[in-house]
Amino acid sequence: MSILDVIKQSNDMMPECYKGMSRKDMETRVAAIKKKFGSRLFIPGHHYQKDEVIQFADQTGDSLQLAQIAEKNKEADYIVFCGVHFMAETADMLTGEQQTVILPDMRAGCSMADMADMQQTNRAWEKLQHTFGDTIIPLTYVNSTAEIKAFVGKHGGATVTSSNAKKVLEWAFTQKKRILFLPDQHLGRNTAYDLGIALEDMAVWDPMKDELVTESDHKNVKVILWKGHCSVHEKFTPKNIHDVRERDPDIQIIVHPECSHEVVTLSDDSGSTKYIIDTINKAPAGSKWAIGTEMNLVQRIIQEHPDKQIESLNPDMCPCLTMNRIDLPHLLWSLEQIEKGEPSGVIKVPKAIQQNALLALNRMLAIT
Ligand code: 13P
Ligand code: SF4
Repeated sequence: MSILDVIKQSNDMMPECYKGMSRKDMETRVAAIKKKFGSRLFIPGHHYQKDEVIQFADQTGDSLQLAQIAEKNKEADYIVFCGVHFMAETADMLTGEQQTVILPDMRAGCSMADMADMQQTNRAWEKLQHTFGDTIIPLTYVNSTAEIKAFVGKHGGATVTSSNAKKVLEWAFTQKKRILFLPDQHLGRNTAYDLGIALEDMAVWDPMKDELVTESDHKNVKVILWKGHCSVHEKFTPKNIHDVRERDPDIQIIVHPECSHEVVTLSDDSGSTKYIIDTINKAPAGSKWAIGTEMNLVQRIIQEHPDKQIESLNPDMCPCLTMNRIDLPHLLWSLEQIEKGEPSGVIKVPKAIQQNALLALNRMLAIT
């Protein structure tokens, strides 16, 4: 189910009155509810969340860490997920039946996850099987719907995150000759290239045209990249890199692998949000960095490292709009709904989908 379908079905909208409350009042109320519920309430927060929300996170992490955290937590009755819809779905699938996962704003989707739907995927699979026979294993970035994960699980594949993509691709090549990588062409291309696969041995599946775009003979194709992308990370360009380097040849550039292949290869380093944070933490005082990832995270890193010179790789960058849907009013509202015994924004993946999606998620967790 795409995020648009979810919103259409959902009556989970925050009442207007929360928008008029003062920040101090909201913070006091959130803190009080957290105290009251103790370990029965757990708030995971993705690194791209706003400061006003992240201050209340019990744990923060990248997508892989958040999945692992959800899997381990057995004691929380309510998991209020500060991140986007696919992350809350993943948490729901990895937590127990008695645990309730809540997304404070159902509109917090991910444009990339919506770039692969089931109709498109079924059509692609049929055509690709016809062209390549039974030589393909599907992998999906966790930034995908539970249905896509279920499709991948059913066909012997696994999910991947930006921090374990290399390991999962290596595993996938022990299973089949070719990989279909959904839905982010850039993470797929960057990871396959790191593994030594030539760009001409990668084809692109265009789900709008139901067409395989390839530079080489079909028989040489090793990776089929779904033509999807992140609308935030596509805003980092080779020109940004040239401009930064021209201004300061000593600056180091680190980007997320959702950036294009050109941007990743022109940069000094790339990795998941956790990798970027760890790299800057380890960097010496006085070092200079330009970071190519979401703006809430870049701003936080800048604030936490006054001893280093840090900037966004693209000076005109905006935060991820869907991540930003989760704000303090929505967090407070969802906690007050729990307190009233009427939780809103409950994420429940249907059993039939969950079963196969868990195959894909558990394969990834076992490989990682
Ligand atoms: P990671 O935090 O796993 O690097 O993922 C980034 C992202 O785009 C999440 O939507
Ligand atoms: Fe999706 Fe990109 Fe936002 Fe991550 S940053 S949630 S991939 S739109």
